[in-house]
Amino acid sequence: MKFFLDTANIDEIKRCATFGFLDGVTTNPSLMAREGISDQAERIKEICELSEGPVSAEVLATDTEAMVEEARTLAEIAPNVVVKLPLTMPGLAATRELAEMGVAVNVTLVFSPLQSLLAAKAGAAFVSPFVGRLDDIGQDGMDLVENIVSIYSNYAFETEVIVASIRSPQHVLRAALIGADICTIPFKVIEQLASHPLTDKGLAAFLADHQNAAARKGHSAAH
Ligand code: G3P
Repeated sequence: MKFFLDTANIDEIKRCATFGFLDGVTTNPSLMAREGISDQAERIKEICELSEGPVSAEVLATDTEAMVEEARTLAEIAPNVVVKLPLTMPGLAATRELAEMGVAVNVTLVFSPLQSLLAAKAGAAFVSPFVGRLDDIGQDGMDLVENIVSIYSNYAFETEVIVASIRSPQHVLRAALIGADICTIPFKVIEQLASHPLTDKGLAAFLADHQNAAARKGHSAAH
């Protein structure tokens, strides 16, 4: 399973790259706003220099023609830019046009299996089901991922599933068990994946035992 970082924060991307598991980055207008950015082109360029894998940049236009135009401008920033379009009827039409031009599209804001089927049929390279936001309204976001993975497998769609709106390590675990292609993960959740209280406790005990042994050796050498 590929790990994308769901952020527009450069420090987080640099830190994640040092661990060797940065397979791509996803951004959206809210993540850009969190960084105080209103014109995303420069930030997307910077991110593309740090990530060899796909970098999703979301369009702000809402009608097909304007979406295609904005998407083409974004795609010119770097070869690994993937344009993110919302799952709307104009967004699906733009997905089709862009796919035909060879521009990779990540269809976002997907909340149902049938929306994901439409995205794949329109030619999306990626589809982003938002699991956390479904959990927020009392549904099970990961059920959606399970359904999408089955549907894509039934018909051999090549569209890759990006599990998005991840809130906890449980989402990542279930995504891996289901066999989703990608998780796009906030940095905070990456840290949670690495941490376990027994790891901390075990390490502290190893270090204490080593220090005690070294102190005993020093003590017996003095006598
Ligand atoms: O990748 C989509 C993600 O950024 C949305 O997450 O937490 O705003 O639902 P959230």
